[in-house]
Amino acid sequence: WAVHAEEVAQIRRLKRERDAVILAHNYQTPEIFHGVADIVGDSLALAREAVATDAAVIVLAGVHFMAETAKILNPDRRVLIPDDMAGCSLADSITAADVAALRARHPGVPVVTYVNTSAEVKAASDICCTSGNALKVVESLGVSEVIMIPDGYLARNIAARTRVRIITWDGACEVHERFTPEDIRRMRAEHAGVTVVAHPECPPEVVAEADFAGSTAEMIDFVDRRRPPRVALITECSMSDNVAAGFPDISFVKPCNMCPHMKRITLPGIRRALETMSHEVTVPADIARDARRAVERMLSIR
Ligand code: 13P
Ligand code: SF4
Repeated sequence: WAVHAEEVAQIRRLKRERDAVILAHNYQTPEIFHGVADIVGDSLALAREAVATDAAVIVLAGVHFMAETAKILNPDRRVLIPDDMAGCSLADSITAADVAALRARHPGVPVVTYVNTSAEVKAASDICCTSGNALKVVESLGVSEVIMIPDGYLARNIAARTRVRIITWDGACEVHERFTPEDIRRMRAEHAGVTVVAHPECPPEVVAEADFAGSTAEMIDFVDRRRPPRVALITECSMSDNVAAGFPDISFVKPCNMCPHMKRITLPGIRRALETMSHEVTVPADIARDARRAVERMLSIR
């Protein structure tokens, strides 16, 4: 990313001037991930870091629900997203009215909501979860049945690991739903001895073919602990590029499904965000209060 040196230098200067911190998701491009991010991580880490930072401004290099979560946790701080059209197919798959209808159909059953949702949907929920803590969150409630929204695949992957009965919604991540068991089998045939690490937003049939499944941070942690000679990360394109730089001895097979929403965030966009202090993320106070309860309840589970 040396070609981006000038833009990177400008962004670093602007960060100091604005007292800003850049939180970047693991799916951001390498020039953002390695060049300008102060903190990188999965959705859970970004939520925790949003609480921990004492910077005046948080720039969220990721999608809108991540910036909203940072704002919900920091009502008094300015949270910027470089492109406010950076959405998510999961967040778009469910509304607060859908949650109310689910509750009416399943009275008394708690609603566990993936953070990949709008603030309104979080506000209508009992507790949030991420792919990194979903099993713990479900089992923390001490109930025999939960409603888990909106990712139907994540819910089924968790259901396979717990005795808690899980009522699902049929949202899906447009990146992970495209992977198939045949993709994995072909990869194993073409790359002898490859270790396959999948994200739990993939269909259960794909996860069943993998050696390990976990959040993006857990995928990186698995590679770090096991140091397999050859690995395939079954997830968004930029993950392998970002992770490979830290493991020169590992050969990365690079299956590539791209998230168009994550890719709306660019270095010029981040520079503009810091220059113009936009797009500022806002959440109405009553929604933020209720959503914060669900997110903080999740964060209290270690
Ligand atoms: P995690 O990084 O929390 O695993 O989430 C993956 C994802 O798809 C975020 O959009
Ligand atoms: Fe949403 Fe999937 Fe893109 Fe993540 S990768 S932002 S879950 S569409």
